[in-house]
Amino acid sequence: MSSVPAIKLPSIFLLLLLLFSIHFTSIHSWKKEEFRPCNEAPFCKRTRSRKPHTTTFTVSNLSALDGKLKARLHQNSESGSQDSVPIRPLLLELSVYRGGIMRLKIDEDYNLRPDSLKEKTRFQVQDVLLQDLDDMRVWIPKVERSKDPSFSTFYIKHGFEAVVKHNPFEIFVRTTAGDRVLSINSHGLFDFEQLREKKEEETWEERFRSHTDTRPNGPQSISFDVSFYGANFVYGIPQHASTSLPLQSTIGPGVDHSEPYRLFNLDVFEYLHESPFGIYGSIPFMVAHGRKRSSGFFWLNAAEMQIDVLAEGWDGQTHSEEHEKRIDTVWMSEAGIVDAFFFVGPEPKEVLRQYTSVTGTQAMPPQFAMGYHQCRWNYRDEADVYGVDAGFDDHDIPYDVLWLDIEHTDGKRYFTWDKASFPNPVEMQNNLTAKGRQMVTIVDPHIKRDESFSLHKEFTQKGYYTKDASGKDFDGWCWPGSSSYPDMLNPEIREWWEDKFSLKNYVGSTPSLYIWNDMNEPSVFNGPELTMPRDLVHYGGVEHREMHNLYGFYFQMASSNGLLKRGDGKIRPFVLTRAFFAGSQRYGAMWTGDNTADWDHLKASVPMVLTIGLTGFAFSGADIGGFFGNPGAELLVRWYQLGSFYPFFRAHAHHDSSRREPWLFGERNTALIREAIHVRYSLLPYYYTLFREASVNGSPVMRPLWYEFPSDTETFTKSESFMIGNSILVQGIYIQGQKTVSVYLPGGQSWYDLRSGVTFSGGMSHDLKVSEDNIPSFQKAGTIIPKKERFRRSSTQMVDDPYTLVIALNDTLCAEGEIYIDDGKSFEYEQGAYIHSYFLFSNGILSSTNIIPTHPSKFSFNRLIERIVLLGIPSESKRILIESARHDLDMGVGPLTLRTGSNPVAFVIKKPNVSIGDDWSLRIL
Ligand SMILES: *[C@@H]1O[C@H](CO)[C@@H](O)[C@H](O)[C@H]1NC(C)=O
Ligand SMILES: *[C@@H]1O[C@H](CO)[C@@H](O)[C@H](O)[C@H]1NC(C)=O
Ligand SMILES: *[C@@H]1O[C@H](CO)[C@@H](O)[C@H](O)[C@H]1NC(C)=O
Ligand SMILES: *[C@@H]1O[C@H](CO)[C@@H](O)[C@H](O)[C@H]1NC(C)=O
Repeated sequence: MSSVPAIKLPSIFLLLLLLFSIHFTSIHSWKKEEFRPCNEAPFCKRTRSRKPHTTTFTVSNLSALDGKLKARLHQNSESGSQDSVPIRPLLLELSVYRGGIMRLKIDEDYNLRPDSLKEKTRFQVQDVLLQDLDDMRVWIPKVERSKDPSFSTFYIKHGFEAVVKHNPFEIFVRTTAGDRVLSINSHGLFDFEQLREKKEEETWEERFRSHTDTRPNGPQSISFDVSFYGANFVYGIPQHASTSLPLQSTIGPGVDHSEPYRLFNLDVFEYLHESPFGIYGSIPFMVAHGRKRSSGFFWLNAAEMQIDVLAEGWDGQTHSEEHEKRIDTVWMSEAGIVDAFFFVGPEPKEVLRQYTSVTGTQAMPPQFAMGYHQCRWNYRDEADVYGVDAGFDDHDIPYDVLWLDIEHTDGKRYFTWDKASFPNPVEMQNNLTAKGRQMVTIVDPHIKRDESFSLHKEFTQKGYYTKDASGKDFDGWCWPGSSSYPDMLNPEIREWWEDKFSLKNYVGSTPSLYIWNDMNEPSVFNGPELTMPRDLVHYGGVEHREMHNLYGFYFQMASSNGLLKRGDGKIRPFVLTRAFFAGSQRYGAMWTGDNTADWDHLKASVPMVLTIGLTGFAFSGADIGGFFGNPGAELLVRWYQLGSFYPFFRAHAHHDSSRREPWLFGERNTALIREAIHVRYSLLPYYYTLFREASVNGSPVMRPLWYEFPSDTETFTKSESFMIGNSILVQGIYIQGQKTVSVYLPGGQSWYDLRSGVTFSGGMSHDLKVSEDNIPSFQKAGTIIPKKERFRRSSTQMVDDPYTLVIALNDTLCAEGEIYIDDGKSFEYEQGAYIHSYFLFSNGILSSTNIIPTHPSKFSFNRLIERIVLLGIPSESKRILIESARHDLDMGVGPLTLRTGSNPVAFVIKKPNVSIGDDWSLRIL
């Protein structure tokens, strides 16, 4: 245990001063003036002030080439405002992908540029779309001319077609019955600033606070309007904090004064629970929903984006009739090109399937990652780690992962350990692994500029840092002090970075160590808006402004690929990220960043997690307890009760907040938290099955009510309750001391209280007494949920445990469900090494059938079902009989026990002597 070298002291002292000053400013919460509003961003201000149909365009020379439609877009000569620069003809390209997807690209024609500008290409996002996307392309053989020559139409999928209106330019998707679904430029707000030569008197520089953006390429923004037809509400475009799931109108009649929704990845200290300002991540994907249809729109563009949702009547029209319902939106970006996808739905599940077939589905996490995670800034040293770990065992609380924040490193040099506090990291990890537990350490993108730090030396020598506008390594300020940032846009640098995660390079790591990427917006304490200046230069001459929202995506991608390499491609990685973009779901999990220990943040966590899920990222959660501040015991308990349902279930706390491990709030609260964590562990087989579903078809694990009940208008605005899969409905409690709560239970079937089995009717609201024991949660009639009810130290220790099936019968005494099981860690499931069974209860018979019969040798798994719980057997039912059959063999009769409980119609069948994964049937009634 060496002492800290003396030369480190002054720098630590300075750092403490810096930390103190940062925290001092943050204590006074969100600083509005730190962040650039729309009216200080010329591209945004300009778009907001434009009138519809001022500049109009004509589509010409439309022809089919290579199965795509190509055309030119000309500005109509009489159109455009006096001060606007005439737009040279643009190139337009339309293509169609299987499943109901249309893609529109619009870019400059570089041949028409002045010679001096031929070099600089506009940035096109790479690496987000799936590599084999082109295999899904539907060939457009030729242009179908309508009878009316001013339109061209083409096929999208059965029942849907697209129409190009030539003059003025407009494209819309409609059903073949003629109902519009989506359109672009119906309100004539399309605009495209092309690169041009600077005029003598012009200055392109922009200033924000003390920062100057040199803007060497001048204005290059793009904007357009998109309309969603048959839509009551629009959702998505994370990340913003809000207690409302539907997006609110940002401009137009009845809107006082609102910023547009901003997509710009920023490290926002103490973000407000209600604000359209962008926070850590961006997914430019919007989902629209109405009673008859859902649809989606995705703009693949990584520059700063601003999106207005126009209030009804903004154009002087009202849509009183249901069939006229329409939501208009305006999209603006500072740079890039138009590369936009239209998803025709019409069911919500199809919109998600369509979107994730373009950007990828959720990576299947390792099983342990679905358990409970314990984190704090910071667990100080090994003794602290061992103490917390033992605390869980002493209090009989399961957990799976212990996390170490920045202080575990040697002076914020990532991939190193503070030798005084963590002298034996390998032994520490092995001791956790012995109980089936894992560890996560933090790796951030800011690299300490320290000549004695080998990583910094390597970066400098190889020229791998992001460059400032003058071509030098960009030097910013972050946790380690003076820092530089890897240029993650460069594939060579990413590949090199991946190798840093090998067991050999990451000294002190073991195969049970996983990774957390924080501050990857990237956060730069002394940069404009606390991030990188926009005129920094990346690989290929790309300006930071063009790719800003992608930085975190690439950083997590490289970390995830690093862990993949470490395990020879055989072990599933786990990487948590704070910054993200479309497609980040392929690389791990995200959390909602540095929230606050108050009731409003608890409430906002639900729409935030739901929104992330609706945009393809299923593995997400909010910090339990709230990062900043100190939750009271009641808030903390309520947060555990809600958070145990988040797909990603982690507690975390700021270093200024008091310790809050689950057993520090008295015996009663310890018991309540233990119970909440037990609820999660009992549902792990169900969660695993849902993650499988997310990884196959993009459906979120945690879902808005309307996702499951798309025609029930009552569900469209529900922001306080949610579904877990299709079977469980949860209502949060967001008010201190709340005594009653109104819970809306949708649909035509009934619902069973998850604990008592008591029945409630669907299609109505219920005023329920609130208990401190739990938050209201229900199982939908007609579903079967697989569970495990023996609690151990960690999820890995539950692998061999027997299962429970909870069958909630509907009015016709039927129910169905599924279970998916694989080895929980490898990729062998891709070769068919898994069990996926379908359970059906019908006509008094419960059966289990393999959905895809797998080769028995691929994944052998034989675990008994120890209990079958039946909810909703009519009390007049006289005869209850059990016969079981497996592979046509009679296996005898199991004993039947009537459960003693408040509900007279809950039956428990113990030891039915059938196994998960086998095909069998039981005659029960
Ligand atoms: C576009 O069409 C016009 C006539 O409609 C023709 O004169 C012109 O050459 C075409 N341009 C290109 C690039 O094909
Ligand atoms: C960690 O495990 C080692 C080897 O089993 C053991 O000797 C040591 O006491 C353990 N440390 C703690 C603090 O439990
Ligand atoms: C009951 O569930 C079965 C199986 O899911 C379903 O086919 C049936 O329509 C449901 N009956 C009612 C009345 O909801
Ligand atoms: C359970 O089933 C097995 C066949 O899988 C059979 O050999 C055994 O006797 C059964 N046990 C009981 C108690 O019915």
